[in-house]
Amino acid sequence: ALRESCLPKAQKQSHGSEYRLQPPESYKVAILGAAGGIGQPLSLLVKMSPLVSALHLYDIANVKGVAADLSHCNTPSKVLDFTGASELADCLVGVDVVVIPAGVPRKPGMTRDDLFNINANIVKNLVEAVADKCPDAFIHIISNPVNSTVPIAAEVLKQKGVYDPKKLFGVTTLDVVRANTFVAEKKNLRLIDVDVPVVGGHAGITILPLLSKTKPSVSLTDEEAQELMVRIQNAGTEVVEAKAGAGSATLSMAYAAARFVESSLRALDGDSDVYECAYVQSELTELPFFSSRIKLGKRGVEAVISSDLHGLTEYEQKALEALKPELQASIEKGIAFAQKHA
Ligand code: NAI
Repeated sequence: ALRESCLPKAQKQSHGSEYRLQPPESYKVAILGAAGGIGQPLSLLVKMSPLVSALHLYDIANVKGVAADLSHCNTPSKVLDFTGASELADCLVGVDVVVIPAGVPRKPGMTRDDLFNINANIVKNLVEAVADKCPDAFIHIISNPVNSTVPIAAEVLKQKGVYDPKKLFGVTTLDVVRANTFVAEKKNLRLIDVDVPVVGGHAGITILPLLSKTKPSVSLTDEEAQELMVRIQNAGTEVVEAKAGAGSATLSMAYAAARFVESSLRALDGDSDVYECAYVQSELTELPFFSSRIKLGKRGVEAVISSDLHGLTEYEQKALEALKPELQASIEKGIAFAQKHA
């Protein structure tokens, strides 16, 4: 009897419309790199979304098993698997949101930029297919170095004549998730309430958590603020070192990426109150790409929130100026790569 009570309850069978769990609208999501360390838990989390009707999983290998496994979860979305370049186009037809966690992760001692040579090509090839098959989709780029892979994706989309800057996002949600966690821990706050905007880019000093803009407002000594900033900037490396050669953040990344997917789907579904930080084409600073809070709507970025950059502390202002040359160089590196290989 005890064992029985631990099992999930059988769902009430629906014969009429009153028990239907169908959402008003539902969307197709494709995950490219779905068999990887991020891809697998991300696919599971997206499979749990009531807003998803179809989940298309693509990888160069090992994706059949992941899809078979996930397809047994009794949530609404239908799971389909696609293996190798010859099945990529089919994977993308009619898709509303494409998430790209394909590519190699860091090992101890590596920077995100050390991944450039391998991941730049992977992102380029995948985005070319996206441009051909679902140019209207929201595109979420996770593959590092995000500071360069997003400009590469933009160039590829431009070359194909389908670039919509409002629908291309570098996923920096993990930086926000980490900042929220660390600040709540430090100040003993309820996690659910804490929101720290993180701007700039997604690597080392280009990750700029605006602790002075934390909601609810927190008082930090200069020392505390500096300590937190460094911890947030190095959090990825903390995980790389703890995993000691077995890769970088995958589970917290999947959690963060799933949150960004869900926010995008809510925006597509007409929710008018969806805000996230993301790395997008931007006029907030002199840099062509910059991550900041954005308002998401049916057509992608509806507004870039500029107020977070007003009234920074002296320390934050200095950190903002200091990150610009590095971020600019990473952007230019991405653009140069895409133009050279056009
Ligand atoms: P992983 O090596 O475990 O998985 C990568 C997957 O991509 C593998 O299944 C591989 O078969 C697949 N893949 C390789 N080439 C492909 C191609 N041409 N088409 C489709 N799939 C392909 O790596 P993990 O840990 O999942 O990381 C993936 C990427 O995400 C890395 O570049 C990593 O640096 C990045 N990352 C980004 C974060 C962010 O905050 N934006 C945080 C953590 C990781």
